[in-house]
Amino acid sequence: MSTGSMTVQKIQEKKQLGERLSALTCYDATFAQILDQQTTVDLILVGDSLGTVIKGENNTLNVSLNEMIYHTKIVARQVKRAHLVADMPFLTYQINKNDTLRHAGELIKAGAHSVKVEGGKTLQSSIKKLVNLGIPVMGHIGLTPQHVHAFGGYRVQGKTTAAKERLIEDALALEAAGAFALVIECTPADVAKEITSRIKIPTIGIGAGPFCDGQILVLYDLLDLKPEFRPKFVKQFLNGAALISNACQSYVDEEQEGTFPGPEHSYHFKNIS
Ligand code: KIV
Repeated sequence: MSTGSMTVQKIQEKKQLGERLSALTCYDATFAQILDQQTTVDLILVGDSLGTVIKGENNTLNVSLNEMIYHTKIVARQVKRAHLVADMPFLTYQINKNDTLRHAGELIKAGAHSVKVEGGKTLQSSIKKLVNLGIPVMGHIGLTPQHVHAFGGYRVQGKTTAAKERLIEDALALEAAGAFALVIECTPADVAKEITSRIKIPTIGIGAGPFCDGQILVLYDLLDLKPEFRPKFVKQFLNGAALISNACQSYVDEEQEGTFPGPEHSYHFKNIS
């Protein structure tokens, strides 16, 4: 199991040096190998977004610890260079500290280099415990998808002065607890900018504008594998669904026409006497 060459120390140094961080989600071995060995992405997150993009659910609330362990193990086998973070799923870190430690430890044993938790200052003492045990923790504030029902949907957070102040308080609390970096999701760009300037740990934005220290996207969104889901903050870097469906339809057509498989795709009998 690799420790990855992108350590938490190097991730933090990047902010000090004014270098940007790039991060992507990943859930399987094939994409993990591409991201780790054929790109220079700094950080790979086995996100609980697997609830929506892999399991086809409406939200992330039904992702289990076992599912996260399964996908983390699969991705970790391929990751030799990038930093590998695993999401702690809903209800695995909110109930009691002993369970939180055990669950985070299971994700580290599965090959993650750190874990990510969603929430603000209420998580401060749990994060301190994890960090003291030697488990690096990434925070996640703003639109935290595990709070979707409390937010009344997937809505931009931090739009009022009071909400902005609460987010700043949360960011400072997570930094003080020992989090090594912070995801900021779906806030006005100026709010993320202010948080980024107020804390020393790197901020990684998603739908939080250009002023964070880095960015993260859900891999399937940037590949446009689900064109009916295109949030404002995502740029489609590939027409993935169109390219894949064209390729699969060409296969079906050629198979139906009898032009695939051709002689070049067939094994030939060789009579060796
Ligand atoms: O689960 C996930 O993919 C995430 C990112 C959106 C940051 O938490």
